[in-house]
Amino acid sequence: MEINQNENATSLVLLKQGAEARVFESTFVGKRSVVKERFSKKYRHPTLDSKLTLKRLNAVSFEIGGAMHDKGKTTWFLTPVLYAVDPVIHTLTCEFVEGPAVKDVFLDFGLNRVSKEQIDDIATQIGGSIGKLHDGGLIHGDLTTSNMLLRSDNNQLVLIDFGLSFTSSLPEDKDLYVLERALISMHSSCGNVMDQILAGYRKSSKQWSSTLNKLAQVRQRGRKRTMIG
Ligand SMILES: Nc1ncnc2c1ncn2[C@@H]1O[C@H](COP(=O)(O)OP(=O)(O)O)[C@@H](O)[C@H]1O
Ligand SMILES: [Mg+2]
Repeated sequence: MEINQNENATSLVLLKQGAEARVFESTFVGKRSVVKERFSKKYRHPTLDSKLTLKRLNAVSFEIGGAMHDKGKTTWFLTPVLYAVDPVIHTLTCEFVEGPAVKDVFLDFGLNRVSKEQIDDIATQIGGSIGKLHDGGLIHGDLTTSNMLLRSDNNQLVLIDFGLSFTSSLPEDKDLYVLERALISMHSSCGNVMDQILAGYRKSSKQWSSTLNKLAQVRQRGRKRTMIG
């Protein structure tokens, strides 16, 4: 990324270097913020590349999170507050969410005073948020506990990293299935959080019945594949 060398230049501290994007901590109008830069693919045509890279930044997902917050009687807030999008250098600037990733809270279960009640509350929020997201017409595409943060001040769940949601052809049930597999491989010590997540999902999504039926079918196909080897 080009960094301004003048004296007004904002500092950028690298938080994560990934294959598709870099994430920095910075400040935006005095507020702690996160800047996500998606790399362009040099082999693509510049105009097409710019469009695709922008799509993958997915500012629209942020809008949906905000809109639900405005309208709803509920207090779901799915995403960090979006501050700015730069279509030229493909960056998105949003609020820095102060608080741990759900991944770390779940891994700490049994250690650092993380209680079963806290795990259950988080699981209910996860299910509730995904239900709202799906009813809003969005699929996350990479639902892992690293892409969920918990605000320290009010313990509210925030979803991040919607990079795959636009381009994803996953249906709702697969979105949940991806999460379930991630939970089984990473957080088995937390017990059956998935049941609690699905209970939250049932409460929040109008289409819960068809999605959960399809999830049951996907699970069954997954089991058959495992048996065949
Ligand atoms: N809004 C945010 N507030 C605080 N931390 C964030 C925020 N967005 C991202 N992060 C941190 O940066 C990491 C990488 O961001 P993410 O959008 O998930 O990128 P990647 O596509 O590389 O996974 C996250 O796992 C989280 O630790
Ligand atoms: Mg991520």
